[in-house]
Amino acid sequence: MSQHPNGFSEFIRSRHSARAFLPDPIPAEVIEQVLIDAQSAPSNSNTQPWNVHLVGGTALQDLSAALIAEFDKSGINPDFTIDYGQGVHPQRSQALAAKMYGLLGIAREDKEARTEFVRENLRFFGAPHTALLFIPPMGDRIRAAFDQGTYAENFLLSLEAHGYHGVPQGMISPLAPTVREFLGVDEEHKLVTALTFGIADESSPVFNTSPGRAPLSETVTAHGIEGLKLD
Ligand SMILES: Cc1cc2nc3c(=O)[nH]c(=O)nc-3n(C[C@H](O)[C@H](O)[C@H](O)COP(=O)(O)O)c2cc1C
Repeated sequence: MSQHPNGFSEFIRSRHSARAFLPDPIPAEVIEQVLIDAQSAPSNSNTQPWNVHLVGGTALQDLSAALIAEFDKSGINPDFTIDYGQGVHPQRSQALAAKMYGLLGIAREDKEARTEFVRENLRFFGAPHTALLFIPPMGDRIRAAFDQGTYAENFLLSLEAHGYHGVPQGMISPLAPTVREFLGVDEEHKLVTALTFGIADESSPVFNTSPGRAPLSETVTAHGIEGLKLD
């Protein structure tokens, strides 16, 4: 039986999404290491369907301006539906939104302030870098989408290990056509999320929203294993 290094659980739980960043770039050597760590992730049949576009500097500012212009003109045009179904999943999403808007002092009925927070997403929360994850044409893309998740978690944990922060931004994918045009990516590559990263602004109320997690009893069903406490 192999032993996990002490402190692994504490480390993995210290990762959180930050939604405010300082403009300073992080060193290129760190970005390289994060990219190497990210693609040590497992993938279906080792297909490694990672098609990552890194954007920073004035290119990121220009991309952000193009996204905001498109959002203000035409709204959204996603590659994938944004639908959390019914029941506990949309409830958890609503709980996160309520907590985040509460931290920002935005009232539920204040539509303009909420829309401005969408624009803040499109400003990449002030971060100096983002990695845009595209899924290549592969069947129904479900397996490749799963592999984006393994990659993303490695990416975010590597940032954490290096003392930096990140936030996945599915909110960029509803503007996929604009992103593709900006980057010169063909239409067959579907945008699933961005991983935005840098030095977090720890003074921001949304440095860490701490949304919590469901009890294991809501997410795990055990078959033939005795003595587990799933609460
Ligand atoms: C695929 C994916 C897309 C996400 N998209 C967004 C987003 O567009 N904007 C945002 O503020 N947070 C986004 N998040 C962050 C989640 O809200 C966050 O991971 C969740 O609330 C748990 O909080 P934590 O990351 O701080 O532990 C996304 C997370 C994932 C995995």
